[in-house]
Amino acid sequence: MGTSARTMTGWYPVARAAEVGMEPLPVGAGGRAYVLVRLSPGAEVSAFPARCPHRLVPLSAATVVDGRLTCPYHGWQYDGEGRCLSIPSLGPDGTAPPRADLPVPWAVEERHGWVWLAPERTAVAPPRPAGDTGAELVPPPPAPDGPVLGNLDPALETAWHPVALSGELRPGGWLQVRLLGRTWTLRRTDRLEVDPPAYGVRERLGVVWLAPAEPRDVPLEVPEDRDRRFVTGWLPPQRSAGTAGVLADVLLDVAHMPFLHGGSTSAADHPEVAAHDVAPEPGGFRSAHEQWFDAVTDPGVATGERPLRQRRRATSVYRAPFQLLMRLESLDSGAVTTVQHLLQPEDADSTRIYTRLLLSSGPGNPLPAPADVEREVASAQRVLAEDLALVAHVAGQGLPLAGRDELHVRADRMGVALRRALCDFVLSAPRVTRRAA
Ligand code: FES
Ligand SMILES: [Fe+2]
Repeated sequence: MGTSARTMTGWYPVARAAEVGMEPLPVGAGGRAYVLVRLSPGAEVSAFPARCPHRLVPLSAATVVDGRLTCPYHGWQYDGEGRCLSIPSLGPDGTAPPRADLPVPWAVEERHGWVWLAPERTAVAPPRPAGDTGAELVPPPPAPDGPVLGNLDPALETAWHPVALSGELRPGGWLQVRLLGRTWTLRRTDRLEVDPPAYGVRERLGVVWLAPAEPRDVPLEVPEDRDRRFVTGWLPPQRSAGTAGVLADVLLDVAHMPFLHGGSTSAADHPEVAAHDVAPEPGGFRSAHEQWFDAVTDPGVATGERPLRQRRRATSVYRAPFQLLMRLESLDSGAVTTVQHLLQPEDADSTRIYTRLLLSSGPGNPLPAPADVEREVASAQRVLAEDLALVAHVAGQGLPLAGRDELHVRADRMGVALRRALCDFVLSAPRVTRRAA
């Protein structure tokens, strides 16, 4: 995380003491962003830097759990001194690396009804305010030092991007779409046309794709697409203010399941992430691991045939820049749920998300009935909404590509592979002359 090289000595009045409770309050001191919180009712005020070092999620979204500041994304927990006491994905015996500790300010004190903060060691005591004291505006958090991938990166010109569901472009009809900060008009005559001219437009996997310039991406293969044992259910396309890189990272991430989806489909009491390898493949990678989950949509659970808590094999396939596939195979029932996520970087702070489920009931079972598909789609919609609620906290923020700007732990192998693949994709881009927006 980039930090200011300037020395910030002295005391800063940052908030009225009465405003600070057990919900983190963002404040600014000397141009730096912090959050204030009481870690138990009536306790002294603690101050923390504004973002979690793991994935730079604002700690204003954190909660207090058992007297510890707890990040909403992966549940990392901090004491009042900023020490990282728990990284759940590492399991009960895991030890947090030193860089996981938060660089807390030198001191924080309550005086005369105000909270005063000294970012760095200072010799003087907090001053007595004369008249009304004003707190400074909360500054933006520091920008990462290294490269960051946003939605308008010129390297993204040279890829196929999803721009509409096939069904949204009717025969004889037209449609305006946004891609990489520009508007394009699609027409369906006896073929697909696009204006302004682009390298190409085509249909694949139920979606219309547009490549502004000669594409370099490797198309995602979805074997289930042609497999008669699978039925398809589409989620309504969603829009997020998160960038496509950040969304891809969240959709690939496995360690957040108990924290973002504890109430939906995963087992909140199994936060440990088993070691899993990531195998590079042309244009991306593949990774598989086993995980616990609550099979809330398994009809066999209702009949008592199978337990609610089950094991499944989760395989993730990624193709740069923003094509993802997750295959979830229940080890108990043999049922397979494959989730295809395709992301359209529309504008700097807008990404459209196309999600398709491909469902199979497993060997010897009939095809999933329409009601089963509906239930799975509704469940996937809830899970996606939980992901998008988290992403809303980092709206418009690009994906840091340099390892030093975040803190990767064992469970983050896919996140690391994603950053590498995107870094390669960006660095290998030819110089492209961008058309005016
Ligand atoms: S625990 Fe904070 S971002 Fe992962
Ligand atoms: Fe998720």
